[in-house]
This record gives sequence, structure tokens and C-alpha cells, in this order.
Amino acid sequence: MNTTCFKVFLFIFGLLIGNRLVFGSGERLYMEKMCHTCHGVKGNRPMAPNWPKLCGQTKQYLQEQAIYIRDGKRATPMAASMKALVSTVTDEELMKIATYLEQACAIDEKP
Ligand code: HEC
Repeated sequence: MNTTCFKVFLFIFGLLIGNRLVFGSGERLYMEKMCHTCHGVKGNRPMAPNWPKLCGQTKQYLQEQAIYIRDGKRATPMAASMKALVSTVTDEELMKIATYLEQACAIDEKP
């Protein structure tokens, strides 16, 4: 591989990694942790009509409520269904997910 080729490779590689870290991580975590199975891909289509819509709420609120559910402070019968799943998710990961969800509706205005 000559130098130019290598530089181009590094540049593209850098873009891919950077993109993933800056834009992708919240969305990726949201999918990896299976949140979308109950809340919908963009957080706007909950599985049951009386479950909350996540997208468009502030990230502070979303992270706080997810932590309350995880740690048992919000222990409603409905929240019980989500508790086990969220138990493996850290505060930091929840903030990344919440940051994605805050904007998720704007990304996909059309349902
Ligand atoms: C098994 C289904 C299920 C899964 C999986 C699930 N949730 Fe939930 N989630 C719920 C239900 C049901 C509620 C409503 C609980 C209540 O009202 O007390 C809820 C509520 C929430 C709330 C509070 C919303 C509000 O308006 O107050 C947040 C934030 C949230 N979930 C985030 C997540 C995240 C992040 C994940 C993935 C780590 C996740 N959920 C995975 C079912 C689920």
C-alpha cells in the first residue's frame, strides 16, 4: 500500500469510527439493549397504547426515569416488565440513549 492510499484509508476509517462514536452510539445502544422491542425503533411506537412515548422528551427526564425504573424507585406494575432488561444498562449508557431519543422524532417526522 503506498502512502496516499494509506492516508485515504486512515481518513475513511477515522470518519467511520468518529461517526459511530458521536452520532451512532445512542441509537446503537438503544437497539442493542432491545429497548426498541417495547418502545419502537424511534421511541415513538410503544407496544401497548398506554405505554409512554420516549422520543421528544428531554434527555434529563428520560435518563432519570430509566434509572428510577432500573433501581426500583419507579416500581409500577408496568415498569416491572422493563426492570430486568434495563438492569444491565449503566447511567452513562442511559444518557447516550436518552440523548438519541430526545432527537429521534425530529430525525423521523413521518410515522
Ligand atoms: C419489556 C418492555 C420494555 C423494554 C424492553 C423497555 N421498556 Fe422502557 N418502559 C416500558 C414500560 C411498560 C414503561 C412504562 C412504565 C411506567 O409507566 O411505570 C416504560 C417506561 C420507560 C421510560 C419512562 C418514560 C416516561 O415517559 O416516563 C423510559 C425513559 C424508558 N422506558 C426507557 C427504556 C430504555 C432506555 C430501555 C432499554 C434499555 C427500555 N425502556 C426497555 C417497557 C419496556
